Amino acid sequence: MSYTGRFKVWRGDAGGGELQDFEVEVNEGEVVLDIIHRLQATQAHDLAVRWNCKAGKCGSCSAEINGRPRLMCMTRMSVFDESETVTVTPMRTFPVVRDLVTDVSFNYTKAREIPSFVPPPRLGPGEYRMQQEDVERSQEFRKCIECFLCQNVCHVVRDHEENKTAFAGPRFLMRMAELDMHPLDAAEETGLDRKTTAQDEHGLGYCNITKCCTEVCPEHIKITDNALIPLKERAADRKYDPLVWLGSVIRRRGAID
Ligand code: SF4
Ligand code: SF4
Ligand code: FES
Repeated sequence: MSYTGRFKVWRGDAGGGELQDFEVEVNEGEVVLDIIHRLQATQAHDLAVRWNCKAGKCGSCSAEINGRPRLMCMTRMSVFDESETVTVTPMRTFPVVRDLVTDVSFNYTKAREIPSFVPPPRLGPGEYRMQQEDVERSQEFRKCIECFLCQNVCHVVRDHEENKTAFAGPRFLMRMAELDMHPLDAAEETGLDRKTTAQDEHGLGYCNITKCCTEVCPEHIKITDNALIPLKERAADRKYDPLVWLGSVIRRRGAID
């Protein structure tokens, strides 16, 4: 079953652009990325679009579809009414390179700012032991495909370019939370307090737990409930309760020894 669908696709570059109207054939079972490819093949040969896996795993086809941040390859055409005009625009939070392609290097800059896992000094390779519940907790965060839809939707940077230097965004605050809850991470022994760093250097306090990041995550990671809120709670404990700080050091030493 096929029909001719109506689309508005943003075309332009860093200097400016506009929505252009197209009519494109839509077939049963297709996703928005299929339509963009057909448009490229038949009418707009130089349309720029980034994609790779077409399976929701590489995280590169992120865009805004009818204003909602989504993966183009995981958005079925069947969710739209046949008479509806489907609008496809680039992610708004990042600078446009061309058409649907944005420059997401902001995210790589933020990733580089996070100190990596610090191996426990008294354990060798193969000697690490963790409780299964600790493994499962961080496993959820490891499902991230780095599509940056959560970074794109977060109002802290979406409408406030000036916040970008001070705010890492949900994907990277989640990474800090993951490392902070890792029972074998020895960062504190090197003088690195991940909670304080998240608060003071990566803008954890800017997050007012609206959960918009969680709502758009294609991997259904509970970014806010399972990463950001616990990190905020631990940062507050650390700030206001010195006994909590002392207890955490003792617990970590116990896990390492
Ligand atoms: S919950 Fe926090 S990080 Fe997520 S979108 Fe809202 S303000 Fe941004
Ligand atoms: S946390 Fe979810 S929305 Fe954010 S980058 Fe990872 S997969 Fe994408
Ligand atoms: S093309 Fe890989 S996630 Fe869409």
